[in-house]
Amino acid sequence: MSNQASWIPAATQTVSVGPADTYTPGPGELLVKINSIAFTPIEGKIQKFGTRPIPYPNILGTSFSGTVESVGEGVTGFEKGDHVVSIRSGKTLGDPRFGGYQKLALAPASSTSKISKSVPFHSASATILNLAAITSALSIHLGLDRPSLSGTASPKGKKVLIYGGSSSCGGLAVKYAATAGYEVITTSSNRNKEFVQSLGPAHIIDHEQKPEDVVAELKKYGPYEAVLDTIGLPGPTAILIEYFESLGGGSYNSMIPPIPGTREIPDNVKRSFAPYNFAFDEPEHKPFAQWLYNEYLPQGLESGLIIPTRQHVLTGGLEKAQEALDLMNEGGVSGKKLVMDPWESPSA
Ligand SMILES: NC(=O)c1ccc[n+]([C@@H]2O[C@H](COP(=O)([O-])OP(=O)(O)OC[C@H]3O[C@@H](n4cnc5c(N)ncnc54)[C@H](OP(=O)(O)O)[C@@H]3O)[C@@H](O)[C@H]2O)c1
Repeated sequence: MSNQASWIPAATQTVSVGPADTYTPGPGELLVKINSIAFTPIEGKIQKFGTRPIPYPNILGTSFSGTVESVGEGVTGFEKGDHVVSIRSGKTLGDPRFGGYQKLALAPASSTSKISKSVPFHSASATILNLAAITSALSIHLGLDRPSLSGTASPKGKKVLIYGGSSSCGGLAVKYAATAGYEVITTSSNRNKEFVQSLGPAHIIDHEQKPEDVVAELKKYGPYEAVLDTIGLPGPTAILIEYFESLGGGSYNSMIPPIPGTREIPDNVKRSFAPYNFAFDEPEHKPFAQWLYNEYLPQGLESGLIIPTRQHVLTGGLEKAQEALDLMNEGGVSGKKLVMDPWESPSA
């Protein structure tokens, strides 16, 4: 089977389709025929602004799902024909063979889940990256318990605030914490309230109210065992600072570092940020990564314990990769993951 990729030739240049090798998987690797590429906003920033130092030419793309073509030495638990979903680990970001914007790619077995054939490829690819990020944020960084795979948990009597339940990360976080038995308070606009309600929160605060009314509701439902802000923009940051200041201080985690326009963080409020997925490359978190990739993700997607991020499907195959990046950079995708089947013909 011959391969094609959407290559970025040099920093800030546009991506375009060209031939690529058909790789042989090395030890611990799989060769995957990609059925669904999931595009991630940071990839748009890397293409347009060169925000991450990577070698060129390269193939962008951090998460995909597909069908195993062959397995490398020492790989157990996967065989040709299996359906899988995978994240490009931090260590492979510089290696184009692992890039998602192609028809055939290598995948590290250690960050790949075997999924049921009943799970749509697009649902799996749309979910894996942000799911890994929020499990790391909530359980590794904020110390929350994991959900049981049976989906039943006795109420813990502890409240968790997920700011931004209508975002992809926020929705996955609401479901994760609610399934683990926490009383989840979250936010949404009215547009997404019904979807967010289906994820099991105890209360949804309308984040489009006046900021002082959002703060008043945060106080009414708190205090919280843990707070994760999945939006991180200046508006939500100001609201959370005001909330914590009303308590005399506190700490929380955010999915993004403060961006220009963010008000100064006072001394009595600790706002923490991390590239959450990188935790899975650390040896101490290997058992958690194994639980995520081998148990929670495959079982959760099949049983409905994980509600996949909603998808925005781009037709037309790999030739449309630059269009996908432009769409994300222009803010044309919100609350959904942009996905595509790279094998579709441009006229599809
Ligand atoms: N640190 C990490 O490791 C890591 C990993 C993954 C993602 N991230 C970051 O996490 C952030 C969220 O990513 P995502 O893919 O989940 O985003 P997303 O799904 O595109 O989020 C968009 C949604 O956020 C909501 N929103 C927008 N502005 C808001 C505001 N001011 N207050 C409350 N909600 C607001 C909107 O919901 P409504 O329509 O209901 O208003 C919108 O639908 C991104 O910045 C991403 O780069 C970080």
